[in-house]
Amino acid sequence: MAQPSIPQPNEQGYAGLRRVLTYGTYDLLHYGHIRLLQRAAQCGDYLIVGLSTDEFNAIKGKESFYPYEVRKEMLEAIRYVDLVIPEYDWDQKPDDIERYHVDVVVMGSDWEGDERFEKLREYCDVIYLDRTHGVSTTDVKTRLKGEFD
Ligand code: CTP
Repeated sequence: MAQPSIPQPNEQGYAGLRRVLTYGTYDLLHYGHIRLLQRAAQCGDYLIVGLSTDEFNAIKGKESFYPYEVRKEMLEAIRYVDLVIPEYDWDQKPDDIERYHVDVVVMGSDWEGDERFEKLREYCDVIYLDRTHGVSTTDVKTRLKGEFD
């Protein structure tokens, strides 16, 4: 998969520009996602989303309703999101942090304390944001299935 172009530093270099990185699948986009992205964007000046590829979701035992390219297109249309990059395995995070000059990784509170994110404190800040109650992709799928059964 082609790597997205990396934003270049302006005349002041990277000084003053706080870069935020978050990861997720963002299938069947819902208001819990939008609120997370809005608050993640408020943690800095430039928001990068590492979007799980279909192949990575298969490794995680997940299958999204919308394929990667469609999920990416929708995320790119959101005003809080500056760049979408592929998340294709568990171990790429330190490389992403270096490559995209990331200052802070932000995740929903469902990931709080998870070693896969805690160990990133070696490279940047790590912040967990409260999830929005009462909505998830799984929940939407379950409820829609109930409607049509
Ligand atoms: N998120 C959130 N509030 C929700 C649902 C998700 O803040 N109600 C956040 C997650 O914590 C994560 C991001 O949105 O940081 C992307 O989550 P994702 O796993 O793609 O969405 P879910 O709705 O949780 O999907 P699933 O039900 O498949 O786990």
